[in-house]
Amino acid sequence: MSRRLFTRTPALTGNDAAAKREEIRACFHATFDRYEQLFEVLTGDAAFYEKPIPLRHPLIFYFGHTATFFINKLLLAGLIEARIEPRFESMFAVGVDEMSWDDLNDAHYDWPAVEAVRAYRRQVRAVVDGVIERMPLALPIDWDVPAWVVLMGIEHERIHLETSSVLIRQHALKHVRPHAAWQPWRVAAPAPTNTLVDIPAGEVSLGKTDASYGWDNEYGRHDVQVPAFQAARHLVSNAEFLEFVEAGGYADDAWWDAEGLAWKNYAGAAWPTFWRKADDGWRLRLMLEEVPMPWNWPVEVNNLEATAFCAWKAAQTGQAVRLPSEAEWGRLYDHAGLAEVPADAPAPANLHLDHAASSCPVDTFRHGELYDVVGNVWQWTQTPIHPFAGFRVHPLYDDFTTPTFDGRHALFKGGSWISTGNESRRSARYAFRRHFFQHAGFRYVVGDALPEIETHVPASQYETDKLLSEYAEFHYGDTHFGVENFPKALADLAIRAMGTRPARHALDLGCAAGRSSFELARHFEQVTGIDFSARFIGLGVQMAEQGRLRYTFAEEGELVSYHERSLAELGLEGTRGKVEFFQGDACNLKPNFSGYDLILAANLIDRLYNPGKFLAHAHERLNPGGLLLIATPCTWLEEHTPRAEWVGGFKRDGENFTTLDGLKAVLGTHFRLVEGPLDVPFVLRETRRKFQHTLSEVTLWERL
Ligand SMILES: [Fe+2]
Repeated sequence: MSRRLFTRTPALTGNDAAAKREEIRACFHATFDRYEQLFEVLTGDAAFYEKPIPLRHPLIFYFGHTATFFINKLLLAGLIEARIEPRFESMFAVGVDEMSWDDLNDAHYDWPAVEAVRAYRRQVRAVVDGVIERMPLALPIDWDVPAWVVLMGIEHERIHLETSSVLIRQHALKHVRPHAAWQPWRVAAPAPTNTLVDIPAGEVSLGKTDASYGWDNEYGRHDVQVPAFQAARHLVSNAEFLEFVEAGGYADDAWWDAEGLAWKNYAGAAWPTFWRKADDGWRLRLMLEEVPMPWNWPVEVNNLEATAFCAWKAAQTGQAVRLPSEAEWGRLYDHAGLAEVPADAPAPANLHLDHAASSCPVDTFRHGELYDVVGNVWQWTQTPIHPFAGFRVHPLYDDFTTPTFDGRHALFKGGSWISTGNESRRSARYAFRRHFFQHAGFRYVVGDALPEIETHVPASQYETDKLLSEYAEFHYGDTHFGVENFPKALADLAIRAMGTRPARHALDLGCAAGRSSFELARHFEQVTGIDFSARFIGLGVQMAEQGRLRYTFAEEGELVSYHERSLAELGLEGTRGKVEFFQGDACNLKPNFSGYDLILAANLIDRLYNPGKFLAHAHERLNPGGLLLIATPCTWLEEHTPRAEWVGGFKRDGENFTTLDGLKAVLGTHFRLVEGPLDVPFVLRETRRKFQHTLSEVTLWERL
């Protein structure tokens, strides 16, 4: 096929900064354009607004989302100063995985017209172009420079190019049409017989070392000594999987683990999701059409189905058939002698959109003794995603990976026909819940049982992230120096001030780990907690779902202690059902977050990029007579709030202008100061011997 290759991910290295700037610009344009071209396959407006599957947003969300992502990250990095279209940007944020904090209630979204989103995308494109033009660029590109943020936006869009193609494949046929740029493979034949290949023992080094953009979870180091095993030469084809279906594999619970069984019963699954049973035999749903079953293409299943197949196959053959580990896949890659996708030639694999817009026969691309070690479809492993030694969260995308370190997100490797850029690389580590469908199948292996470390996330029940642990302790842990628990003290203060006012719904804005939300729920019928950080929300969600939280805590040096806290021991068990958590930007909240009797904003305003905007609109979200509680340590820092946006803490007209002065000035029109300022102390424990002791200034305002 002699069309232009889809742009490769720029190397981070080089010696010509001007050329690199052009390369990044070209990659941005190619990605942005190809993404829009994907949505050309939709037949009309209904295709944008009807959900392909209930647990995900409609496609209009994804059309806007990748553009909003650029704006959000550029804002966060301080590379642009203002939002482009705040209303769109409040709707198009979040929304990748089935996160419990992603608001999927249709009633909360008044989706804009497709044409308006197209126009918005054009604006974003111009803004990003401007950033690429102006940004300082030194080589190699490091992960804390502007170019990294642009690359992050590009790679994020490439991920959504793939995940959106899956959603389109899950859309009703009437919503899609064939497209010249998205033509599937047209070759099918009977499947080859699968055989086993001996893979000798060897050491595998995981952890990113190549000089291209990577997500935080790829860094660090993980060396594994892999014993000898055997691997199927081919990915499991539709024909090979048919044996399992025809043997009653879906009807027989014996082959399914507990999670698989629960999913199978819930979903009513009786065969692979993209298979269709027609009068004249099996057919396969591709992205844009249905075709007679191509028996020699790889089967696409979720991790649970792949695991059940292996259990069945093991019983049939008497061999220890199972899914590989992440490290075993690394061995296959090394054993096959593979290299990354070449810059100027088509990939020797069904990868990177270099060939066609679908899977292809499993005996098309040979890699040493094996086929399809990369490409065609992703290959499920047994390994739950976990951090390598040395893992650090990227500060601009702190919720890319950490919410998936829960032991329930399995890694898959190798990429599919539409995996491009970072996704196509050996070091890529993407993980999904085991019931999720992507363009993913599997290759089974025969080998000894895997060590626990490859199949379970070590200490997964314990939060080990330092910042999160500190906040877990701050919210749910011990008190120190006789200082009362701060989130509880504020909630108590708010509840007392509410008196006999209506107490239907409270908003805990900047809720962090969520303690105040639970405390407020003792008095309010319903409490909504919102925080900018999905990592913090995760703590509150876990508390609400499981009623307990476990975390490790720094004692001194490398020594940690283990802690467990429960709502029950805090007397809050009864509040669980009254609290919900969402991720959101306090300066740009969705309109449906309104009608509150109380807004609690604890240690929030001096962490916002535009506190004035939040304060100027706070009254719109409160019922008349409702209260606004603001607590602030007044620690204004340029890293959080540009100097021009500080509410106070500077000289104005030669006189001191405090935060309280600033609050009075902004809130005066719509509020009456009813209490305060009060000093409410808090203690944040860093280690056994180091504590921060701070006084937060608390004021209570009544909405006029
Ligand atoms: Fe996303």
